[in-house]
Amino acid sequence: MCGIVGAVAQRNVSPILLEGLKRLEYRGYDSAGLAVIDQAKSLQRIRVQGKVGALLKKHQATPLNGNTGIAHTRWATHGKPSTNNAHPHICRDDQVALVHNGIIENHEQLREQQGASGFKFNSETDTETVVNGIYVALQTNPDLLHATFATIKQLQGAYALGVINKSEPGRLIAAKNGSPLVIGVGIGEYFIASDVFALLPVTQQFIFLEEGDIADIRCTDLTIYNAELKIVERPLNVLELTPDVADKAGYKHHMLKEIFFQPNAIAELLENRISDGQVISSEFGHGADAIFAQVHSLKIVACGTSYHAGLIAAHWMEEIAQISCQIEIASEYRYRKSVVPDNTLFVSISQSGETADTLAALQQAKKSGFLSTLAICNVAESSLTRASDLVFLTHAGPEIGVASTKAFTTQLVALFLLVIAIGKHNGLSNKQENMFVKQLESLPARVNQLLLHKDDIETMAKEFADKHHALFLGRGSFLPVAMEGALKLKEISYIHAEAYAAGELKHGPLALIDDDMPVIAVAPNNNLLEKLKSNLQEVKARGGKLYLFADETSAVEPAEGVYVININVVCDFMAPILYTIPLQLLAYHVAVIKGADIDQPRNLAKSVTVE
Ligand code: F6R
Repeated sequence: MCGIVGAVAQRNVSPILLEGLKRLEYRGYDSAGLAVIDQAKSLQRIRVQGKVGALLKKHQATPLNGNTGIAHTRWATHGKPSTNNAHPHICRDDQVALVHNGIIENHEQLREQQGASGFKFNSETDTETVVNGIYVALQTNPDLLHATFATIKQLQGAYALGVINKSEPGRLIAAKNGSPLVIGVGIGEYFIASDVFALLPVTQQFIFLEEGDIADIRCTDLTIYNAELKIVERPLNVLELTPDVADKAGYKHHMLKEIFFQPNAIAELLENRISDGQVISSEFGHGADAIFAQVHSLKIVACGTSYHAGLIAAHWMEEIAQISCQIEIASEYRYRKSVVPDNTLFVSISQSGETADTLAALQQAKKSGFLSTLAICNVAESSLTRASDLVFLTHAGPEIGVASTKAFTTQLVALFLLVIAIGKHNGLSNKQENMFVKQLESLPARVNQLLLHKDDIETMAKEFADKHHALFLGRGSFLPVAMEGALKLKEISYIHAEAYAAGELKHGPLALIDDDMPVIAVAPNNNLLEKLKSNLQEVKARGGKLYLFADETSAVEPAEGVYVININVVCDFMAPILYTIPLQLLAYHVAVIKGADIDQPRNLAKSVTVE
């Protein structure tokens, strides 16, 4: 992961770089740093352990001023979070400074070679070997482009790099291979960053580098080379995005804002995607409907929360569209040999569109004989959308809180539209389609109703503050809802939480139940309710405390050790989306009570661009 930003301008670039870092903090926030070169050819650097806020403070005390600079916010991979391991890294003689996002897989070998030729290392990072490599190459050819090119030829792994050389003020070299990097085009100035969002305050014009590209950037001149060092043209994209999305709009945390934004996000997703009670299949991309007509099965691949969305969709796909649907975690899929049945559509799901494992899974799928590839994604200009045949954008708007909320519910809505669009070719009638579309249209209002339970859930959350473990139960398409609830709780409150298919309890986990183990269950009034109730009795009989989210019609009554929040959800196919909302609120309130860092939980980052 990590976020990088760089600039070459005729003004002081430090404020631009620091603002860019704030906007990239979702990519990592355990240390940060900034380096600039001024006209006097002096290279200055400040670094801190901790968040970008700490760097801002340090910069207030010791401001840096220069027209050329690079900056970095880190998510530690090689070497603990510390000032020494923070980027930018600088080589011998303070000649070159470099920021890196990605992992250099052959860093140990490079470290050995460089150590043998007298280099002393100041950090535990893989990155330091790259800046040393450039220093060595500069001794033979004192040109930063060629020195960087010669060095990256020796690298194995993934990188997005920004490099500056104190002897060449006004020049910035950028290189991309497997990690995201975009060039922002200003008037008489250029920028680089891990994503466009970092640069929105300074430009709306972007060039997306391709794998292997290396860019030679000066204030008034940009030349892009491919992996063979041949000059290439990359198109200029003008985006219409506003820079002010980072505002919390009066909410205490981004996560809470994003939870409460879900009715709007769903409504915005549905806009122009349905018409006269029907799904507009062409919204999945050019020729989508013709492809959907040939689909015999689906393979869905994703990570984390997006994987949970895929699990729910697999239930829908088999039940409603009657199309076989397999779902797999991307990091598993990418490394195994699998059989691809004829006419199988490959579907990747990702909020960011930059998740390394999901991207690698897509690359593998492209070689494996799938009918076509479809990305369900929230970021239009992401690596995933650019590499997929078909794309459906979830339009949830930037998600800043590390714990995914609105991205998840909008993924589910997008996947439901996909189920209908494919189901139409497999016997789903117009009448059924109209009924599902009505249910989808009712979602924003129904989610709003659920948000009214905030205070009850906050009260319930107090019960969890001193707990170390929690068990989540669900059945059928509500098992992934329970899994998502457990993931939310563990990632932001640091309470160890596991989800189980309720029927599996007696096969082992029941041994864990005592009065210190809260059990949270979603109890919709569906065909599995009676089975679930029996499972809950098994918990109660062993002294376990139950926390239930149930339909009023589920007839689950509060009793000693049984807490019930009736959420009055009509149990139709949309119910998994709705049952997710109280679990998000529960995790949020538990984390608030525990005083955790809600939007930036420890050890995590929003966009996981490393394996
Ligand atoms: C959890 C969460 C992660 C992401 C996962 C995949 O709240 O956000 O589990 O879902 O890292 O990320 P994307 O969807 O960007 O591919």
